[in-house]
Amino acid sequence: MKFWIVAGAAAVSLGLAFAAGHDIHAQLLGQTSEQATVDPSMTMPPGYRDWPLISVAAVGPPLNDLRAKLGNDIAMSDLRQATIPYRDGAIIARLAWKQTTDDQTSNAFRLQAQQVGLSADAIAKLLSQSFVAGGATNVQFMVKDSNKYASTGGWGFAQFTNGKPDAIVQQRCFACHEPAKATDFVFTHYSP
Ligand code: HEC
Repeated sequence: MKFWIVAGAAAVSLGLAFAAGHDIHAQLLGQTSEQATVDPSMTMPPGYRDWPLISVAAVGPPLNDLRAKLGNDIAMSDLRQATIPYRDGAIIARLAWKQTTDDQTSNAFRLQAQQVGLSADAIAKLLSQSFVAGGATNVQFMVKDSNKYASTGGWGFAQFTNGKPDAIVQQRCFACHEPAKATDFVFTHYSP
């Protein structure tokens, strides 16, 4: 009985957190008693927005975001040559935006769909799952420094909202990345 009460409370708090529209990463971090802190040595790497694209992903309801992973030169060459572990200096950025729709885009798809004879139902379905990037949520980074971050697989983790660092628990970021140990704790694969 006790178990169910505890499990129920956890589910409710997770649900509420999701309803607030926050990032899944932040939500799971919120479930810990460890003290979330900002690492002052971790700043937004200059020019990261112009780094090459590694790949993209989307997370469904209730998060509903679109994400892009970008890599600096060291990360890109390690990815392309499958260098594991990544070399010190590699940085991977994860950008994310709310899924939204754009009238011009949707109208163009609708017109084309009508021309090829899709049913009204099929068109509605197509448009209900067609999105463009809306407002940015947050940016996360993984920075490789095998000495400095030895306790978290050699990666420093950081998160920024509106350019400002968020207080996080590095160990919690790392714990969830552990299943990707075989690829040096990086989930994303390079999309050619
Ligand atoms: C719930 C588990 C979980 C937690 C907690 C988590 N991550 Fe992730 N992270 C993932 C998954 C799964 C991906 C790949 C899919 C994606 O990008 O959403 C990922 C991707 C990333 C990437 C792109 C590189 C890669 O591994 O694919 C970065 C950078 C990143 N996370 C940083 C962080 C930071 C910083 C934190 C802590 C604030 C954190 N993550 C916490 C699961 C997690």
